[in-house]
Amino acid sequence: MSSVDLKALLEQMTLEEKIGQMIQLSAIFFDSADGELTGPAQEWDLDEHGLSMIGSCIGGLNAKHKREIQDRHLATDRNKIPLIFMRDIIHGYRTIYPIPLAMAGSFDPSLMEECAHMAAREASHEGTHLTFAPMVDFVRDARWGRVAESCGEDALLASKMGEAQVKGFQKDDISSPESLATCVKHFAAYGGAEAGRDYNTVEISERLLRSRYLPAYKACIDAGTTMVMPSFNNLNGLPSVGNKFLMKKILRDEWGFEGVVISDWEAIYELCVHGVARDLSEAGEMALDCSCDIEMVSRAYYDTLADLVRSKRVSEDIVDRSVMRILELKKRLGLFEDPYHGSIENSDVLLCPEHKEIAERAALESAVLLRNNGILPLNKNIKRLAVVGPFANSQAIKGTWAAMGENKDCISVLDGLKALLPHTEIKWALGCEASIDDPSKDKIAQAVEICENADAVILCVGEPQGYSGEAQSRVDISLPGVQDELIDAVTSVNSNTVALVFNGRPLTLVNLEKKAAAILEMWHPGTQGGLAAAKLILGMANPCGKLPMTFPKHVGQCPIYYDRTRTGRPKKNSDDKHEICVSDYLDCGDLPLFFFGEGLSYSNFVYESMVLDKNEITKDDTLKVSVTIRNDSDTNGKEVVQLYLCDLVASAVRPVQELIAFEKISLAAGERKTLDFFIREDMLRFYDSECRYISEPGDFTLSVGYADHMRFTQKFTLI
Ligand code: GLC
Repeated sequence: MSSVDLKALLEQMTLEEKIGQMIQLSAIFFDSADGELTGPAQEWDLDEHGLSMIGSCIGGLNAKHKREIQDRHLATDRNKIPLIFMRDIIHGYRTIYPIPLAMAGSFDPSLMEECAHMAAREASHEGTHLTFAPMVDFVRDARWGRVAESCGEDALLASKMGEAQVKGFQKDDISSPESLATCVKHFAAYGGAEAGRDYNTVEISERLLRSRYLPAYKACIDAGTTMVMPSFNNLNGLPSVGNKFLMKKILRDEWGFEGVVISDWEAIYELCVHGVARDLSEAGEMALDCSCDIEMVSRAYYDTLADLVRSKRVSEDIVDRSVMRILELKKRLGLFEDPYHGSIENSDVLLCPEHKEIAERAALESAVLLRNNGILPLNKNIKRLAVVGPFANSQAIKGTWAAMGENKDCISVLDGLKALLPHTEIKWALGCEASIDDPSKDKIAQAVEICENADAVILCVGEPQGYSGEAQSRVDISLPGVQDELIDAVTSVNSNTVALVFNGRPLTLVNLEKKAAAILEMWHPGTQGGLAAAKLILGMANPCGKLPMTFPKHVGQCPIYYDRTRTGRPKKNSDDKHEICVSDYLDCGDLPLFFFGEGLSYSNFVYESMVLDKNEITKDDTLKVSVTIRNDSDTNGKEVVQLYLCDLVASAVRPVQELIAFEKISLAAGERKTLDFFIREDMLRFYDSECRYISEPGDFTLSVGYADHMRFTQKFTLI
């Protein structure tokens, strides 16, 4: 551990030097082609002296470039305080694994951890010290583009995946040259944007905030994340970076978080745009009062903080507290001893075979088989194969926020199939674009032509990776362009049509679900995506992912999610037939197209029993739930065993079901396993109407399975 005396260092810093530590600039200020100047930052009048006091840099090209920036900085900084280099490493650095929403669908935290560490290895070799990840915003509305970056609609799943990312990125010691410090974001409830429109207002009850939106951030903090990034949105009237309830009461006081808080891009300046600060001075004071330690790119702290301190509107002690947090982070990173954090120029780990193997395994484990009439897996001796659609021969499958990943690194489905079927006649056709701006159908005929005599068709549809991510909300979440016409045309001439879907959000795939013989949800699967898809199609791998988010039949159902409350007038039937005077739609049932937790396998998993070791427990007891499953097939496979709780009667309405535990297991052909889950009283707690976190005596049920496909349900009582 570093021996630098931070207290002594702080004491001899000038006020301007302290404030400089609280400012983050994009790499372009430090002479890089990589950064971007937006908004107020474009008018910065920083000279070399001003630049020498800045504390951190976002972006930066590669190890050599960052070393040059660091060297120039240390040569000019009177205090010789190294810069921290930060960047968004969300699902890979150069080797890209599936988008986080897909990774959540793997239901495999250990795989998530392995992927994060692989990304940390590549990014740290290239000179990045901290990643603005994990993003664990809880999301129930598929219209919101950043759902692609999230872990979906379940708080437990997001918590486990967030925790795994913190561990994977940081490992045991962030000063290790192959670790990245982490920054959990976007605190809080950014995913609750009204109408799914990015940056929009979030008005939710404290009860909902605490029971669903906050747990994953807390899990990441408990896992040791070093930084928190408040979200752009206003939450119940106050933008997060200026929201004392969030930033002081919950984050600092209740949770005891002592790490660094960094604003999102220009979010402090945006307090003026939101209309809660008259000018940058008020915005800076508001953010500092909410313990925001670093301002990203905007200039409230740079322009006004010194005056605020000198005019006694802000105590210098507050500034010192922020600066000390920043210096402590730099000390933990070991930057005072090694300002390069072990970066390696021209590292050979980028896209190395070991990393590609990890990325491929991630793509295999996160793919979800949604429909299969028995056509899959295809026989490897197939003679004639048609591969059609906008994603048939596309390398644009790395997904949003792919850091230094490049499309050209990605394997397309066509190339994947060609690599595995050297003796098959494979023809491909585009059919149409996947674009809301391209209604042209003139290429459909050619696609139909190659499908007519094919033994099977691989129809690759979806939404472009640019249609999800930041500021990419959609009001129509159907397949963009004329893909449905392509689906109709292809399936009308060949019923052996297997559909692959490439997307960053749930889509309304009603037509596809009616027409395709099989549907494999691939998400935006990253560098190895096309090869993984080919292996899954040919049975060289067995699909084992489950949906981390509900797929609506119609966008009008959004937000639609599995852990809904039953209302006073639930439907009586579990079909889509309309019933009068119940909570339903006249023109669309209340059921989704595909359910949270849904996913098929080539194996046949038989749930043989679920046994509770007691049927009532006290607050001090533990209930053991033993679930026995058998793989009644000749195909080895993996199954995600999901355990759901229902609190039958409580002092506040409770969800019809909520995921209380899950475990992904391997089962060889014919193998039988018994899994034990342990339920404690604290797992039965909920936020009551007074927002007290309590459990109440009463009856509960436990079910194993998913949605309305539960294999067993048993009752127990908390006394
Ligand atoms: C963006 C995003 C945030 C990201 C930051 C830095 O606007 O909201 O997720 O970490 O800016 O790129």
